Amino acid sequence: MRLFIAIQLDPEMIEALTDLQLYMKRLGVRGNYSREDNLHLTLAFIGEYSDPDTVLDIIDQISFEPFRLSLDGIGSFRNLWWAGLEESAALRSLVKRLRRALSDAGIPFDRKKFSPHITLIRRPSQPAIPEELLSRPPRGSMIVDHISLMRSDRGKNGMIYTELR
Ligand code: 2AM
Repeated sequence: MRLFIAIQLDPEMIEALTDLQLYMKRLGVRGNYSREDNLHLTLAFIGEYSDPDTVLDIIDQISFEPFRLSLDGIGSFRNLWWAGLEESAALRSLVKRLRRALSDAGIPFDRKKFSPHITLIRRPSQPAIPEELLSRPPRGSMIVDHISLMRSDRGKNGMIYTELR
């Protein structure tokens, strides 16, 4: 199965992001919008791996004090627009410890530098983010007190992400 570790967002955060997606649609941006129940913040992408229990053991080993996660701005990678997060030492430390534990346990994961983002849309119909969006970034914050192991499956209408725990 295809696995990744993520922070699941709370309803208030989801609402801020879906409001933003609605506004993008009103501005005429077309593309592959992330479905509401697929919005999340990935901490580590594992990919094909057959032993979720080992990954759950690692997740259980990583303890952290609950911390605040706040939306901050909109940006893009090639072909993908995202909502950003305010710089957080607690988030960085969590990801660093998580990735080190995965590495020590020999669990493979994508080692690309961590750049925290919540994907809003893939393959947008225009190359540049409109000024109206840049000047109206989403607002919202939540307290993070746990992280989730997620499974990714290809559905008929796009990817389906399921929280295993
Ligand atoms: P993305 O939204 O920037 O594509 C499930 O695919 C989640 O894992 C997504 O949040 C995706 O980020 C992230 N991810 C990170 N590295 C990935 C990779 N190498 N392949 C697929 N998804 C990856």
